[in-house]
Amino acid sequence: MDALQDQFAIRVRDLVVGFGRQTVLDHLSLDVRRGEILGLVGASGGGKSVLMRTIIGLIPRRSGTIEVMGQPTGGHGRGAATIWGILFQQGALFSSLTVRQNVQFPLRENLVLSQELMDEIAIAKLEMVGLRAQDADKYPSELSGGMTKRVALARALALDPPILFLDEPTSGLDPIAAGDFDALIKTLQKTLGLTVFMVTHDLASLTTVCDRVAALADGKIVAIGPMRELLQSEHPWVRAYFHGKRSQMLQHEMR
Ligand SMILES: Nc1ncnc2c1ncn2[C@@H]1O[C@H](COP(=O)(O)OP(=O)(O)OP(=O)(O)O)[C@@H](O)[C@H]1O
Ligand SMILES: [Mg+2]
Repeated sequence: MDALQDQFAIRVRDLVVGFGRQTVLDHLSLDVRRGEILGLVGASGGGKSVLMRTIIGLIPRRSGTIEVMGQPTGGHGRGAATIWGILFQQGALFSSLTVRQNVQFPLRENLVLSQELMDEIAIAKLEMVGLRAQDADKYPSELSGGMTKRVALARALALDPPILFLDEPTSGLDPIAAGDFDALIKTLQKTLGLTVFMVTHDLASLTTVCDRVAALADGKIVAIGPMRELLQSEHPWVRAYFHGKRSQMLQHEMR
């Protein structure tokens, strides 16, 4: 692996993805640096979830290349679960499994471990995301929204992957719970050296936890950099997004 490759956790080049006549991603290129938290913004229906799902191999691409940790995607085979953890936008947990069983699910799928060891790992992961051992026997229907996100995060991190994909992790949470979740992501990035790819509309998340922000418009990344650079962007969509009436109001209140 050469030094340049080593710098990036994810490299996307000239990616084209579509469904029928619709082209969603149109020659999109994007680099995610190792160890950074990259925030992705874009219009609703613009292709953020499609990009994430294409990188992890759930949606086929028409053309272009994707490398994750220096290897083309598809090259990881069943080992992929040890490379990335995922928090999907919708429906995070298996409702018929307890919290403990949800967190153990990737372990069962990928490793052969004693029940005792799996129980230890599950408790350790729950504590890592700020939950208690007593929560392990609850079912998803017995959890708050914030707890559900944390359990999903514990499950995503069960196999200690170096990359974490988050699709709107704070949507549906109140501002305090969202702030706590953001702080948790930042702590995990620092302590575990995680690379985090985060789709979010949350201006507070973009400002406080993201090292860089990428903007997706017209099927491409039209701006990328630290939030203060994005705020200077001349791109019409990026300007409208960050300087439109609604976000002005929010930014005013954040001051
Ligand atoms: N499996 C699929 N089959 C057909 N079309 C799809 C599929 N998945 C997504 N699309 C289409 O691709 C486009 C991009 O969808 P995507 O879910 O990526 O948007 P998004 O940027 O994540 O939006 P949001 O912010 O609302 O979550 C939409 O027009 C959507 O209808
Ligand atoms: Mg989406």
